[in-house]
Amino acid sequence: MNSANDGEVFIETRKLTRQYQVGSAKVQALDGIDLNVRRREFLAVLGVSGSGKSTLLHLLGGLDTPTSGSVCVDGRDLASLNAYQRTLYRRTGVGFVFQSYYLVPSLTAEENISLALTFQGTFGQQRRRQAAEAIRRVGLTHRAGHRPSQLSGGEQQRVALARAIVHAPALLLADEPTGNLDEATAAEVIALLSRTHRDLGTTVVMVTHNREMAARVADRIVRLRDGRLVDEEAAAP
Ligand SMILES: Nc1ncnc2c1ncn2[C@@H]1O[C@H](COP(=O)(O)OP(=O)(O)OP(=O)(O)O)[C@@H](O)[C@H]1O
Ligand SMILES: [Mg+2]
Repeated sequence: MNSANDGEVFIETRKLTRQYQVGSAKVQALDGIDLNVRRREFLAVLGVSGSGKSTLLHLLGGLDTPTSGSVCVDGRDLASLNAYQRTLYRRTGVGFVFQSYYLVPSLTAEENISLALTFQGTFGQQRRRQAAEAIRRVGLTHRAGHRPSQLSGGEQQRVALARAIVHAPALLLADEPTGNLDEATAAEVIALLSRTHRDLGTTVVMVTHNREMAARVADRIVRLRDGRLVDEEAAAP
């Protein structure tokens, strides 16, 4: 593991709360989360289904806004960003990997990755170079011209990972990235995530059901229950 404990605070949530109103019922998805994540830390988030894990990731990534409480990333309160700055934060500051790969079916692996760069204004030679580098990083150079239907699940998730890191975001958010994969393939994807974290110095927050896997790669593990943080531990070496 790295020396994440020595790093400065990168993400700070205070009394972070997200309620959903469904008809007349209120769902308290997150209930006052105080969480610090250090720069370059690899944090794993565990918790049973419905405990608020995805809600937390969405709030950290600026995909959703809190009902109350705050999220500060790199010293900036996300609530203080205007719509343009918020979009910029999502597109340049954050990379997302989900359980489903969300690749564009009609595009090749390389084009899927390039598309992410287009969205943030990188074109031409530089775009080609960065896309090739990202695809090399996940070991899929020989599959660059394949469309998603011509790739295995594990390969598709590696393309999704390449797309998430192609712009070298400071923060990588992964929501059950191995949820659809068999154990061996999952281990490969996790190893790639871990290497990315190490090589690029990315701060990683990963949601998983798999405690053993979390312990293998994370610096620290936290657990959510009913929208609250209930447990925190340093990952076993
Ligand atoms: N858009 C929504 N509208 C209403 N309730 C929601 C919405 N999204 C999530 N919830 C509720 O908020 C709670 C937390 O959901 P969340 O998706 O964060 O859980 P999770 O820990 O990611 O679960 P899983 O492991 O199944 O993915 C759940 O009770 C869920 O039903
Ligand atoms: Mg979820």
